[in-house]
Amino acid sequence: MDIKEITLEALDTEQFIAEQVKEIASAVGDGVAVNALSGGVDSSVVTMFGHKALGDRLKTYFIDSGLMREGEPEHIVSLFKGLGVPTELVDAQKTFFAELKGRIDPEDKREAITRSFYKEVFGELVKEIGAKYLLQGTNYTDIEETVAGVKRQHNILEQLGIDPERMFGYKIIEPLIQLRKSGIRKVAQAVGLPEEIYSRPPFPGPALAARVIGEVTPERIAIVRKATQIVEEELATSKAFQYLAILHEDKVTGVRAGKRDFGLQIEVRCWESKDAKVGSPTRLGYDVLHTLAQRITTEVPGVVSVTYNITPKPPSTIEAV
Ligand code: XMP
Repeated sequence: MDIKEITLEALDTEQFIAEQVKEIASAVGDGVAVNALSGGVDSSVVTMFGHKALGDRLKTYFIDSGLMREGEPEHIVSLFKGLGVPTELVDAQKTFFAELKGRIDPEDKREAITRSFYKEVFGELVKEIGAKYLLQGTNYTDIEETVAGVKRQHNILEQLGIDPERMFGYKIIEPLIQLRKSGIRKVAQAVGLPEEIYSRPPFPGPALAARVIGEVTPERIAIVRKATQIVEEELATSKAFQYLAILHEDKVTGVRAGKRDFGLQIEVRCWESKDAKVGSPTRLGYDVLHTLAQRITTEVPGVVSVTYNITPKPPSTIEAV
């Protein structure tokens, strides 16, 4: 890989911020740029850089793909408004679900999300406001995983031979490609983001679609969203790197009120990791696991089985898709 990593030890946050802000300002000149905010630490840092560099010439959008967690779009938009960064919520649910319809292959689903995001949604927004640049928070690990062929990260283009200017009509600025998550968290704190953002567990670009095995439909997303909410509530104090719920494709036989109930399976994962490159499952206490099973099978309609993944990465990956 010809991108040079800046390690946590070598990172000078103030210098890094100043350099990246200057680079954005000189690349965009007196034009406007669009900014893709998801509320994760990476895109939040880029939003702050873009805001410092361009002020109101930065147009920040939160894309509601229909794949986000409960209440997330509204919460992130209001949080950034509170930080003085005007952010517009774009309802693109129909576009994403139409592209995902009928797809079951994981890489095919990831490609459908990339296409919805860059071509259909941002292709239109960029045209509308006459921007030439899109700012986004790709990090070193995203590129590494795609180049190594682990999985296609939704935000990787150039390394897959995609020229965004030719394909979608704009150039992409990626100020964080030399940093891993731990470095980005340090920069996030230095650039004035609140703890809720700089300590936020990672969440994948394909959002809950990375946690639905098989076809992604609004109904199946609603199920995994509810299970995610329970897992996040129960594991918030675990200090784990990341924790998540996955909806399986297969159904299994269960029993409710003495009758057969052919129902859904949810798999819980909870990870210890530094940079998501390798990971090991957290040794959760049995009481916690018991509560998770209890809550998920009573609060999420149709679920009769809850499992906990005990496989490290590798050979597992953090997300299921
Ligand atoms: P995996 O599943 O590859 O995940 O072990 C490694 C880390 O990356 C996150 N992840 C993504 N982040 N775009 C992203 O921005 C993606 O397409 C994507 N896929 C996975 C995942 O949550 C974990 O932290």
